[in-house]
Amino acid sequence: MPHLFWQKKGVISPPPAELELDSIVYPNSPTEPQPMIEDQLILGENLAVMQALLQNYENQFDLIYADPPFFSNRNYPARIGRGEDSRQPEKWQLSEGYPDAWKSLDDYLDMLYPRLVTMYRLLSPYGTLYLHLDWHADAYARILLDEIFGNERLLNEVIWIYHGPSPIRRAFNRKHDTILVYTKTDQYIFNVDDVRLPYAENTVYTFQSSPKAGFGKTPNLARGKVPEDWWYFPVVARLHRERTGYPTQKPAALLERIIKVSSNPGSLVADFFGGSGTTASVAAKLQRRFITSDTSWRAIHTTRLRLLNTAQHPFKIYHQKRYAPAHSIPTALANTAQINLSRSEGNFRVQLQEDIINGLDYWEIDPDWNREFFRSRFSASRSFRKEGISDVMLVPGELTGEVMAVRLVYKDGSQNSFLLQIPRE
Ligand SMILES: C[S@@+](CC[C@H](N)C(=O)[O-])C[C@H]1O[C@@H](n2cnc3c(N)ncnc32)[C@H](O)[C@@H]1O
Repeated sequence: MPHLFWQKKGVISPPPAELELDSIVYPNSPTEPQPMIEDQLILGENLAVMQALLQNYENQFDLIYADPPFFSNRNYPARIGRGEDSRQPEKWQLSEGYPDAWKSLDDYLDMLYPRLVTMYRLLSPYGTLYLHLDWHADAYARILLDEIFGNERLLNEVIWIYHGPSPIRRAFNRKHDTILVYTKTDQYIFNVDDVRLPYAENTVYTFQSSPKAGFGKTPNLARGKVPEDWWYFPVVARLHRERTGYPTQKPAALLERIIKVSSNPGSLVADFFGGSGTTASVAAKLQRRFITSDTSWRAIHTTRLRLLNTAQHPFKIYHQKRYAPAHSIPTALANTAQINLSRSEGNFRVQLQEDIINGLDYWEIDPDWNREFFRSRFSASRSFRKEGISDVMLVPGELTGEVMAVRLVYKDGSQNSFLLQIPRE
């Protein structure tokens, strides 16, 4: 079988990431007892993160979706808030996105290869890898995957087609991505009935109008057909409700098909190039467990925000030690001129003053601070599409602890956290 070689080809194994629990986020029913918390977002470099996960998760993931940088040699800033109209770039508010710039193809393959090898190890015997790329590097990746999985394990080369504007004039418009689908063994999960599509109207008409159509072999028209290996889903555009502003966000519908067909409810699903959290948010909606990672603070927090709407269960946020945000753990009492805690009709009322609310992405409250990690039971967030954030949060019920913790997270990623003395009546 042909192999691909380049100068420094090799499987480097960095030391496993040292992961610290940053917070547990409770998206709903914040006071009810919760089952074991398995879902995780990890701020960290994914090879080191995967090395750390190998210890407990080798052969455990039924599905890994990987949407790495494409070797496009561009940088992708995130757009936040309003004014992200593509025709008016001067009005964008930009924030950390991610780079896709490389010294050479070798440099890119040095990044990709060890990560694919490690993903293979993390996949369960029923597991499938979906590697999402485009014309820049898909040919090289396919040869690498043939080598890692065996060429007989290529299940499909899915072509995702879409359309949209492009300045290109001297070639055809490049409007498809390639998703290489490899299974670890031949016992892979494939829930075909969960992703069937209705037959086209003219097919139904043909079969219904003539008993001879299809040489007498009538498909089960009511059950629908198995999708082809080319898929059309619109790209996530400016006016789509799911749009987060994070660059190269993939459509939820695309991930929905992948997750439904290649995992079961309760399966463990991973996305180590998580971006805006499309995989995590769809996995949560479909009752799958998930672990996702990203090196970008903005990616983790965009995912966190999406999960607040879709997750049924609490989830954990970890960070690799070297990515630990400054000031995320409170040590001092808040200046009461900036944050005010009072009692109001059986609730505790926390109010932020104007000078600290400007530029806020979200803020959260741990009503019973344990001095180690943040339990985010109440939070207020800026919406993806609008400016503005609530300056008041109510914490209901009696609190037994002495202090509550408040964490403020700004659009530029900076954080500040404080303790508030709980007033007794
Ligand atoms: C193409 S985007 C993923 C988009 C995502 N599928 C979505 O729907 O939003 C690639 C992501 O990989 C992340 N990334 C790149 N290299 C990484 C690395 N070594 N470790 C972790 N994340 C990485 C980038 O920060 C970026 O968010």
